[in-house]
Amino acid sequence: MSVSTVASDRSVCSPLPVLGRDVTVPLVTGGEVTYAALDYAASAPALQRVWDDVAAYAPYYGSVHRGAGYLSQLSTDLFENARVTVAEFLDCREDDQVVFTRSTTDSLNLLAAVVPAGCEVFVFETEHHASLLPWRDAQVTYLDAPSTPRQAVETLERALAHRDPSRASGPALVCVTGASNVTGELWPVRELAATAHAHGARIVLDAAQLAPHHPVSVRDLDVDWVAFSGHKLYAPFGAGVLAGRADWLRDAEPYLAGGGASRKVTRRTDGGVDVEWHESAARHEAGSPNVIGAYAIASACKALTEAGFDTLVARERHLIRTVGEGLAEVPEVKVLSLFGDDSPRVGVISFVVEGWNSSHFAAALSAEYGIGVRDGLFCAHPLVRTLLGSDPQTQGECGAPEAAPGEKSLNAIRVSFGAGTPDEHVERFVRAVKELVSEGAKWNYRTEGGRCVPTV
Ligand SMILES: Cc1ncc(COP(=O)(O)O)c(C=O)c1O
Repeated sequence: MSVSTVASDRSVCSPLPVLGRDVTVPLVTGGEVTYAALDYAASAPALQRVWDDVAAYAPYYGSVHRGAGYLSQLSTDLFENARVTVAEFLDCREDDQVVFTRSTTDSLNLLAAVVPAGCEVFVFETEHHASLLPWRDAQVTYLDAPSTPRQAVETLERALAHRDPSRASGPALVCVTGASNVTGELWPVRELAATAHAHGARIVLDAAQLAPHHPVSVRDLDVDWVAFSGHKLYAPFGAGVLAGRADWLRDAEPYLAGGGASRKVTRRTDGGVDVEWHESAARHEAGSPNVIGAYAIASACKALTEAGFDTLVARERHLIRTVGEGLAEVPEVKVLSLFGDDSPRVGVISFVVEGWNSSHFAAALSAEYGIGVRDGLFCAHPLVRTLLGSDPQTQGECGAPEAAPGEKSLNAIRVSFGAGTPDEHVERFVRAVKELVSEGAKWNYRTEGGRCVPTV
């Protein structure tokens, strides 16, 4: 990458305005700095546009699907229009359903609750726990971590080709992440979908980390469902999405039983009740819907689409390069990767620093530089342990004294960023890593409540 290309990358797009961009935080060493939020993979800051849209709507807030009043009707319209916007954002097929949930975790648990009886589920051990764990009532096959995207496809191909003959004609579902929440690496979703379909299986894409960074086209990727969370898509108002094929959703009992999901409830002569459930997305949205959450997601979808993913991706590549090249200059730093350091990724990078406990390092980044990152196993314990080569039985000791050089790390540090990240934040991060490694922490730290905190 030449300097001129980098310069033009910078000029194509400035960060999208987000809330908190001017917030200052105290440093333990004195003074204040603007907070560098580099934990987008956990929760991204709200887009200013999302906040403004929600604030503009708030006075008109009313009950959804219930009231006869003007504001109820307006809110119902906004809620239903939000579905349409999300369907467009995801390039859904005509008859796909968009169900508003609480989060990706909720979406995948919903799907797990509606899979047909006897469904076999195939999931890589590298998944986030939200994708790894909901299937425990199904017949689950956990696939080994692949070391290349091609191997991922081959592993799935082998597993599907060798299904237990007694179940092979029954329903099957593959669950795969679009971008890893640990390494940020992109998974070969289109190829995995083709493999699944070639064997009569369906596929759900966990797009929690993909959708905020890259366009997701259900049609083009040919996935059956997509799940994502509003709070990672700059819309932190408690809503998420499960979008995709209507049939399994329509054929199953509602995820939650209650008002909103039911069309008609009648008392039987024997004293019980009969229920007719909705066949639309409302079937799985019992209770009062989170209209603000749905509206916020729709607002974020529009903002990202209008900014243009080509532009956003180009800018993010520049940030990834800044961090990648900066970390590569520090021999003590090891970036975690399944598919190799050069494989395409979103702005999510995990690493360990030789001689440092990750919790201590993250605490020092926060206390001494005003940088917020995450440390730990990132709700993907099997993957991080595979990448670290650490013993699955060993618990990471947050705030433990620095590991001796050469000792295996038990936790990692994750830096993540996106459309709202200014260059200065990643530049400060790289500078801070270099300084901490070469000069050490300037402050003392101790363990408190399992976390490493500055001794003040
Ligand atoms: C890849 C991935 N899937 C699922 C989830 C779960 O998302 P949520 O906590 O919003 O349910 C996360 C959260 O970090 C994630 O990174």
